[in-house]
Amino acid sequence: MRPEDSFTNYANRSSTKWLRYDADVLPMHVAEMDFEVAKPIRDKISEMALNSDLGYLGIFPGIGPAFASFAKRRWGWEVDPTGIKLATDVGVAAVEILKTVTSPGDRVLINSPVYAAFFAWIKEAGCVPHDAPLELDGETWKLDLAAIRAAFEQGVKVFLLCSPQNPIGRIHTAQELTEIAMLAKEFDVLVISDEIHAPLSWGPFTPYLSLGSQATETGVTITSSSKAWNTAGLKAGFLVTQSDAVRSKLAGLPEAMQWRSSILGAHAMVSAYTESVDWLDETVATLQENLEHLRHEVSTMLPKAKMFELEATYLAWIDLEAYGIPDLANTILKEAKVSVNAGPDHSPGDDFQGFIRFNFATSKPRITEAVRRISELCEGPQ
Ligand SMILES: Cc1ncc(COP(=O)(O)O)c(C=O)c1O
Repeated sequence: MRPEDSFTNYANRSSTKWLRYDADVLPMHVAEMDFEVAKPIRDKISEMALNSDLGYLGIFPGIGPAFASFAKRRWGWEVDPTGIKLATDVGVAAVEILKTVTSPGDRVLINSPVYAAFFAWIKEAGCVPHDAPLELDGETWKLDLAAIRAAFEQGVKVFLLCSPQNPIGRIHTAQELTEIAMLAKEFDVLVISDEIHAPLSWGPFTPYLSLGSQATETGVTITSSSKAWNTAGLKAGFLVTQSDAVRSKLAGLPEAMQWRSSILGAHAMVSAYTESVDWLDETVATLQENLEHLRHEVSTMLPKAKMFELEATYLAWIDLEAYGIPDLANTILKEAKVSVNAGPDHSPGDDFQGFIRFNFATSKPRITEAVRRISELCEGPQ
């Protein structure tokens, strides 16, 4: 069944996406997809629940080979499965890595606009964000390598890279990532590459650690199947290291992190990477169709809005600056009854006032209705 056709009314969903706002609000904010979860994952979780197999997770060798075979088939990336270590989720992995390798007050490089939780993770680890914003280049936004070099020269020791970039859906190119690896090696910077959205790419994605020794000696990847297979509530993720140099930098990571994952989440990840790849391919195709639908609706109903090129995932970055609406996301929530993420939440300052992040992993009628409501606010009743 195509995910698009299997849209389920939110009456039977209890995640924050559905319960945070009143029922008359269309939820286009948090990064969850409205699609039915892949059947092999649902079967596995149901079977475990029926068998009361809900205890603590212990040694779990399954995840290494499952991810390695997926990474090889999908991206031609040869992963040594022994370099895979479970974590509660990607956020916990990021915070624990930061706590292990930084001292209070250290600066962590990010590239705005970027996933809002990065700022919370950096703060939780006692660090401060150092921004090298993406540059707008025609229809896309890309990494500013000169600003990244300048940040390294100024003593930044960790780079929290969002790859692909949430929001925007930019896939950083192999050339850009190779240059980052060279710079990281030169300035002894640890690159934490958050690749949670990577399976949802339709452009050619390059895993950071696939780029040879300069990358493996400077990088750790944090990921999970939770975003691409829509199982965030199951709580499991992992980190990937592929060199002794990085493993020794991370030797102080708490052993307990591995044990603080959910047994359901760990099994769901194996099922995702091995038995649920057809579902993933269908989902990526649906997201591309939804994006075209969103573009059409935005260009028809919000002619002064600007959208950008997307190569991955389902989080569109929409520029509504031309409409000059103050407190944009809040006004859209209160008056148009659509919840979107506010532009400024994606920067360490107050940038991107006229932007919203819009989740299009839903049905086409919902996309149309959300754009219609926002249009009524911006353009007036049609
Ligand atoms: C880039 C990125 N990293 C991490 C997460 C959250 O991952 P987790 O739930 O595993 O902490 C998200 C969720 O949207 C995300 O977009």
